[in-house]
Amino acid sequence: MCLNSNAKLAYRFSIAPMMDWTDRHCRYFHRLMSRHALLYTEMVTAPALVRGGALHLLDYNPEEHPVAVQLGGSDPAELAAATGFCVERGYDEVNLNVGCPSDRVQSGAFGAVLMKSPDLVADCVSAMQEAAGDVPVTVKCRIGVDDQEAAEVLPEFLRKMQAAGIGRITVHARKAWLDGLSPKENRDIPPLDYPLVHEMKRVFPDIHLSINGGIASLDMVEAELAHMDGVMVGRAAYHQPYDILGDADQRIFSDARACLSREEVVFAMEDYIGRHVAAGGKLAQITKHMLGLFAGQPGARRWKRVLSEGAHKEGAGFALVQEALPR
Ligand SMILES: Cc1cc2nc3c(=O)[nH]c(=O)nc-3n(C[C@H](O)[C@H](O)[C@H](O)COP(=O)(O)O)c2cc1C
Repeated sequence: MCLNSNAKLAYRFSIAPMMDWTDRHCRYFHRLMSRHALLYTEMVTAPALVRGGALHLLDYNPEEHPVAVQLGGSDPAELAAATGFCVERGYDEVNLNVGCPSDRVQSGAFGAVLMKSPDLVADCVSAMQEAAGDVPVTVKCRIGVDDQEAAEVLPEFLRKMQAAGIGRITVHARKAWLDGLSPKENRDIPPLDYPLVHEMKRVFPDIHLSINGGIASLDMVEAELAHMDGVMVGRAAYHQPYDILGDADQRIFSDARACLSREEVVFAMEDYIGRHVAAGGKLAQITKHMLGLFAGQPGARRWKRVLSEGAHKEGAGFALVQEALPR
């Protein structure tokens, strides 16, 4: 599949899927800082949607577009059915998780363990594409797992994805070690191999390839874009959202419009927070994603402390957020 240049531009910069972190409140907040970055949901498993009927997991706010949903699963028919639900909900992309190493996910044959079964992944994405119609189906993978030889396994995997019609893939540039490391350790301990991922861009010029893993600043994003079609940022965007997203539209997407200031972002959350709290939600469910907004700025510590101590309390609302503001 060959993507046109406009589409390629929109896919240059994305925020990674992160369980418990990139929920819809987080995505709404991130969108206030960048109009263009592609935002991924947390992984939603196909069995939860198809067998469990948990369609509320697909709820999102219209303001989040462009937004991609990530699915977990390894049964082609079930993934196709789940993709159908996602497309009905209007997601801009459906992504398959071939990178997550958690135990729960291993036991269900989801995630990174599928790097060992590229033919099954090809069947999965073919079924998903059939169900998706015009909506792009993409893959997020590792460079390999356990004792696999990444330099052999990764090109083979990408070749099979390309043959199945996948035009866009994000590679987390490290292996997952499925035995003995926790999911958290698996995001830090296996070494990053950027040169291998850059080499894949040379070998597969027609696949839109994004790199992920350890990218901690917009300078690094720009440097990676010299090699790659796209860059995905995870933890840095969560912990320092303004540093990563605040200048992204100007620097990555050539959109000259100024970003809201940090304080303007806070006030832009007021109505959203008010509606959530009025509907019985807890302030902390939203503000936990906002703790890093003032990272590196005067007043950052107080902002975090006031919100961490008070936002879970009964009756806490936007007044607490105002009280927490650096002054
Ligand atoms: C809390 C947390 C949850 C994650 N959940 C997912 C997930 O649901 N699906 C997925 O593909 N990757 C998941 N990841 C991995 C990230 O998407 C990303 O690949 C990884 O953090 C490396 O990128 P980074 O160094 O920019 O954070 C998660 C990472 C974190 C920190």
